Amino acid sequence: MDIANLFYDQGLSQYALDFMQSSSMTPFNQLENAQRIQSIMNIPYYSRQIIAHTLERGTTERIKLNTLFNEESIALRNIQIKRKSTRSFHEHINLEELANLLLNSYFITERFEKHSHHLSRRSIPSGGALYPVDLYYINLNTIGLQRGVFVYNPHEEALELLQPAGDKKNFFRQLRKCFPEAVLGSWNLDLISGIVVFGGVLNRSSCKYGDRGLRFVLMDVGALCQNLHLSAAAGGVSCCAIGGYIDQNLNDFLGFQQPDECALLSMFIGK
Ligand SMILES: Cc1cc2nc3c(=O)[nH]c(=O)nc-3n(C[C@H](O)[C@H](O)[C@H](O)COP(=O)(O)O)c2cc1C
Repeated sequence: MDIANLFYDQGLSQYALDFMQSSSMTPFNQLENAQRIQSIMNIPYYSRQIIAHTLERGTTERIKLNTLFNEESIALRNIQIKRKSTRSFHEHINLEELANLLLNSYFITERFEKHSHHLSRRSIPSGGALYPVDLYYINLNTIGLQRGVFVYNPHEEALELLQPAGDKKNFFRQLRKCFPEAVLGSWNLDLISGIVVFGGVLNRSSCKYGDRGLRFVLMDVGALCQNLHLSAAAGGVSCCAIGGYIDQNLNDFLGFQQPDECALLSMFIGK
């Protein structure tokens, strides 16, 4: 093993790369996927059966949990109760509300001296403090921000413009290819303020942890998704995590270098 090449070598095995491939939504499997999802969603009995399905535990002793929540816990609990997925938006958020959303979800909580093995801690736990997920913002209609593709820089607390939208019609047409109606259902892009994309840099984690690093990247996405949800609930913004997109099209739209860089989840933002 040559440590100097660690980041440039592929840290994932062919099995892990195959998993990323086989779990992708493509133009060829999108209808099959959509039918499978619809057939479960159309019959509530199936959903109940799936959720109720756990391994048999046998007889267990049950200890009832009681607590007196302190003030901060109650505040957190109330935000969690408020948190929900919203699928119909009526207003657009403005730049200030977007700033609130991002700055309150993913930020530097502690900076270390130069000699520390990691440079800073952030607002989510992350395997090895490697933070292998970057947040992208595809701005459709946020008030006070130009239309285009941005990457969020948590160090500078800034959005960096990667690509201005250019012609609106064409921009929306390209985006529709990423989020086709067959997979997503009938969302009107005009009513969405913007789309957060969770972009994984797989090798940032796998160069240290190998295939296990892939799990860790996905866990960062989960933590970020919840943080965005909570921060949206606290800031009066609505959102919905969206896993229904064509991977290759969204990766191309964002200019990701595959297989290392890839869109792992998206989230529609509005009001
Ligand atoms: C990974 C992930 C993918 C999701 N994908 C979609 C999606 O494609 N379309 C959608 O309408 N909701 C999607 N959701 C939202 C879930 O359906 C929602 O979280 C769930 O129904 C629970 O509702 P709640 O968030 O309001 O509590 C997704 C959520 C997660 C975490």
